[in-house]
Amino acid sequence: MNDPETDPLFDLEGRVAVVTGGLGQLGSEYVRGLTERGMKVAVWDVEADEPVDVTDRASVEAATERVIAEHGVPHLLVNNAALDSPPDAPAEEVGPFETYPEASFDRVMEVNVKGTLLCCQVVGAAMAREGRGSIVNISSIYGMLSPQQDIYEFRRRGGETFTKPVAYSVSKSAVLNLTRYLATYWAKSGVRVNTLTLAGIFDDQPAEFLEAYTARVPLGRMAQAGEALGAIVFLASDASSYMTGANLVVDGGWSAW
Ligand SMILES: NC(=O)c1ccc[n+]([C@@H]2O[C@H](COP(=O)([O-])OP(=O)(O)OC[C@H]3O[C@@H](n4cnc5c(N)ncnc54)[C@H](O)[C@@H]3O)[C@@H](O)[C@H]2O)c1
Repeated sequence: MNDPETDPLFDLEGRVAVVTGGLGQLGSEYVRGLTERGMKVAVWDVEADEPVDVTDRASVEAATERVIAEHGVPHLLVNNAALDSPPDAPAEEVGPFETYPEASFDRVMEVNVKGTLLCCQVVGAAMAREGRGSIVNISSIYGMLSPQQDIYEFRRRGGETFTKPVAYSVSKSAVLNLTRYLATYWAKSGVRVNTLTLAGIFDDQPAEFLEAYTARVPLGRMAQAGEALGAIVFLASDASSYMTGANLVVDGGWSAW
């Protein structure tokens, strides 16, 4: 029987990874899990001691040079950094679509789309020169499908005007086709590019939200943060060597009905 620690299909020992947004809820799980599997992991985050801003090409280039000098050309890039509107977002940001602020749209698109594009440009170019690499772009069920606005009914009952904002959905949709574009563009260079689509992750949300949300999930619960790691390991490893341009959906069945 294969020892999972040494199974060559999933073996990541000694390989180099970059995780953007690596200090966040999910990013920190990826960093932990990939490090435990022997990868050398660079954490790119605006909140890090040595901040990397994915929206700033010079910052991404400098960070890439540091990783290459220290560890070599990355084998894995996880484009995980993103902005969503927090539950306590200003009223105009979670108000009606018709008055959703342009500035909010620009800010979300800047990080979620342009940031992903810049990291692909700079790190992907180095991977293509090396003739190998795996890029994982993180999307959301809200990028595949419209948010179900009635999940947030409990907030409206409390007197708020609440609409799940549009920019996050648009940005996460863009990620799906950036993936397909680059998968074909780099196919002959040995760089694979896939999307990992996730559904809601448990983070001590209010009970009313959990009830409304989980009623729409066939598995009947939100994901735990660690449950996205298996897909990252799969997409990083040789187990997914024939997979590019795909969208791997880890959503508890949300999109199945
Ligand atoms: N949490 C969920 O329920 C959920 C569901 C579906 C998809 N996702 C996706 O998973 C990814 C991670 O989500 P999360 O919940 O861990 O988010 P999070 O907010 O906890 O972490 C995001 C991280 O990105 C960093 N960041 C923001 N702007 C940056 C920039 N310009 N440059 C570098 N770093 C920057 C932040 O500092 C933060 O550490 C996102 O792409 C998100 O869309 C999350």
